[in-house]
Amino acid sequence: MIDYNDFFADRVKPMKGSAIREMFKRMADPEIISLAGGNPASELFPGDELSKIAGKILMTSPTLALQYGTTDGYPKMKDCARARAEKVNSYRDGDAIIIMTGANQGIDLTAKCILNKGDKIIVESPSFIGSLNAFRTYECQLVGVDMDNDGMRMDKLEEALKANPDAKLLYTIPTFQNPTGTTMPLERRKRLLELCKEYNVLIIEDNPYGDLRFSGEDVPTIKSLDTEGRVIYCGSFSKILSPGMRLGYIVGPAALLEKIEILKQVNDVHTPMLTQLMCVEFMKKYNIDDYIEKNRALYGKKCKAMLDTMEECFPKGKLEWTVPEGGIFLWCTIPGFEGDMNDIVNKCLEKKVAIVPGSNFAIDQSLPSNQFRLNYSSVPIEKIVEGVKRLGEVLTEVL
Ligand SMILES: Cc1ncc(COP(=O)(O)O)c(C=O)c1O
Repeated sequence: MIDYNDFFADRVKPMKGSAIREMFKRMADPEIISLAGGNPASELFPGDELSKIAGKILMTSPTLALQYGTTDGYPKMKDCARARAEKVNSYRDGDAIIIMTGANQGIDLTAKCILNKGDKIIVESPSFIGSLNAFRTYECQLVGVDMDNDGMRMDKLEEALKANPDAKLLYTIPTFQNPTGTTMPLERRKRLLELCKEYNVLIIEDNPYGDLRFSGEDVPTIKSLDTEGRVIYCGSFSKILSPGMRLGYIVGPAALLEKIEILKQVNDVHTPMLTQLMCVEFMKKYNIDDYIEKNRALYGKKCKAMLDTMEECFPKGKLEWTVPEGGIFLWCTIPGFEGDMNDIVNKCLEKKVAIVPGSNFAIDQSLPSNQFRLNYSSVPIEKIVEGVKRLGEVLTEVL
């Protein structure tokens, strides 16, 4: 058999797949309770509505749905995405918008447009593995900035910029961050913009969870504070409608998006017309904010169930965790733990519950981690409670 290692490009050789996706493969066992993934709640998917809409589109507009479309997106879909961005003051004069095949593509192509081999990109540590892996494929240097319960620490960002004044790009998920669930307060967002201005760094603001607040007050997006076209804003319909429809978008200065559009042309020509048309029709017929409201209420309940069970079943005084005000994740730390987090993960799998070790979200994935991520959106409340109880048993045994 051929040894493909002789053929792989240098830039992909060191890359590791997402352990979460690997875990999905091991989770074929239906008895496993997954607190590992990042799926939105499928019990609320508007399946009936979307099946009728898809049928109607294919009956009445087959050519539009099945023919090639324009790279920047179906115009009415662009209007829908623009309306979402405007709702959070994140579309300004001089901006353009491109519909992406998921926000992930928007992040990837923005990085591809900006980063040369060896360039530096500043990221939260820990951060979303999909984006980190996208950046890694451009053979750039990831510079991690520590976080606390209010997201990226500005003293640490300043240090990182002083040490890397030539950094070109900063990637942040300021609201309900993946994996930590934390939200950056307004003052930090202002400071982040100031520092990026001082060091002339462009910013990717990734905001797939911003609509999913279930407590506390909304905080303005960084994009809404930006007056000079420094921020590229990435939005997604994955967590407010359906991830399988693969609909996301980027908003940013037209001069920059023109180039990114060329990269998208090369990448996938355009985002599927059928799902764009379905989304437009859904938003015309139904109030998407009502649908989002149902999700928010459900996630609030699920998060509370998880936190209450953690309080009850985790060994007392041994763990710390974030308390999210929205989104779908929370982040646990075991202070002083020097064991192997993979042992905990494997013991959990024996008890048929899945969690993700922190090293997956680390800048240097080879370092040991004393942290893990929990997701509360994707399984029903009874399973969250049962899953956290089993996790509590493992933690009590190990710690
Ligand atoms: C922070 C973050 N950004 C982007 C994405 C990707 O979203 P999409 O499904 O729109 O590609 C995710 C998905 O989990 C995410 O957590």
